[in-house]
Amino acid sequence: MERKINLGVFGFGCVGQGLYTVLHQTRGINAEIKKICIKHPEKKRPIDPSFFTTSRDEILNDPEIDVVVELIDEVEAAFEIVSSALRKKKAVVSANKKMIAENFEALLKLQRDYNTPFLYEASCCASIPVIRNLEEYYDNDLLTSVEGILNGSTNYILTHLFEHGLRFNEALKRAQELGFAESDPSLDVKGLDPKYKLLIILVHAFGILLKPDDIFNYGIQNLKDADIRYAREKNDSIKLVAKCKKMDNKVFAYCIPRFVALSDTLNKVTYEYNGLLMEGAFSEHQFFMGKGAGGNPTGSAVLSDISALTYQYRYEYKKLSQNLDYEFTQNIELEIYVSYNNVSPDLNDFDSISVKHASPGFNYLIGKINLAKLKQCDWLQDETVSVVLTENNF
Ligand SMILES: NC(=O)c1ccc[n+]([C@@H]2O[C@H](COP(=O)([O-])OP(=O)(O)OC[C@H]3O[C@@H](n4cnc5c(N)ncnc54)[C@H](OP(=O)(O)O)[C@@H]3O)[C@@H](O)[C@H]2O)c1
Repeated sequence: MERKINLGVFGFGCVGQGLYTVLHQTRGINAEIKKICIKHPEKKRPIDPSFFTTSRDEILNDPEIDVVVELIDEVEAAFEIVSSALRKKKAVVSANKKMIAENFEALLKLQRDYNTPFLYEASCCASIPVIRNLEEYYDNDLLTSVEGILNGSTNYILTHLFEHGLRFNEALKRAQELGFAESDPSLDVKGLDPKYKLLIILVHAFGILLKPDDIFNYGIQNLKDADIRYAREKNDSIKLVAKCKKMDNKVFAYCIPRFVALSDTLNKVTYEYNGLLMEGAFSEHQFFMGKGAGGNPTGSAVLSDISALTYQYRYEYKKLSQNLDYEFTQNIELEIYVSYNNVSPDLNDFDSISVKHASPGFNYLIGKINLAKLKQCDWLQDETVSVVLTENNF
């Protein structure tokens, strides 16, 4: 029988508790939690107090702990924990997309320098197996595009806005109560969280390693009742869509809300579910859907990484090592709908305008604009402006 793996877990919030639950309901994995490091010792916990410590070193310096599982909601502390664990040659599993996206290069180097695996399936779309699929199944240059709904919390909010007529803040509060939202919900609603996931996907899909600021993100926080009504009148809903696509040897990426026809596959992705459409030169479209948030679904992806470590799995970063020579570009034209009240978008920023509408309390235009230009527009910062991609885009 293979040796039992001892786990040192950091964090016992939504995902930490999810991992505890799923680990205790499977007999297929020979792993046990030895210690859990948390921040607030005074909090009441649902399991035996002897599990807990507030000392990182109790886990990091314990020679019996083979795998460190990082499930905290702080970025700097998480990077310190993951770096020290890798330096001590302890394999690491993490769900922390922000920490990974902001430190990708350093984390790659640590894995190579210390020849130690670092797995993070749960960081992208929680329960959907994305990264291992990109690494193992789509391990060649025939993949052309990955797009989808990568954030459970905003999708939950949008579903409630469209299907139940809830107000934005009410829907956000429900998402928070159910553990779907990040501790800082602006990461979700401003489209940062799905952008971090897109950054990770770009590495495994196309071998392109970027910094978060390189990718344009626009959130759903400014959507007004009038925008929802406009979408409904067109038989559309609005989804926060992250996309990366290869055209010849150039790859573009963005995360922007988009009008989606009610019959569209992405519109079938509701509540906290995430959905991903992969497109290959010959395989054409494939669609993956699954819970993109919540303790148990995320815990099950963490468990799958722990299980993968039992057979020495590690990411080979195949696309990076294939030297595909793809170039990241923001030089693409997008067709966007912009609604506004306090400020008017500068029409000179657009290549063309096809619709301009003004009525009391509701102004909007539809026009074509270069993505690189859009990223720099000052009027985007106004809180009465909302931008939604039309359906006429790549
Ligand atoms: N929630 C989801 O659906 C979901 C899905 C995918 C990925 N994730 C990612 O999973 C991670 C955890 O999310 P969560 O929702 O479980 O967060 P959470 O419910 O807020 O729990 C965070 C946990 O981290 C602990 N913690 C915070 N700072 C710490 C530190 N410096 N040292 C030790 N422990 C510390 C907290 O300790 P106390 O209990 O003492 O406060 C708490 O137990 C995040 O990176 C998140 O992005 C979450």
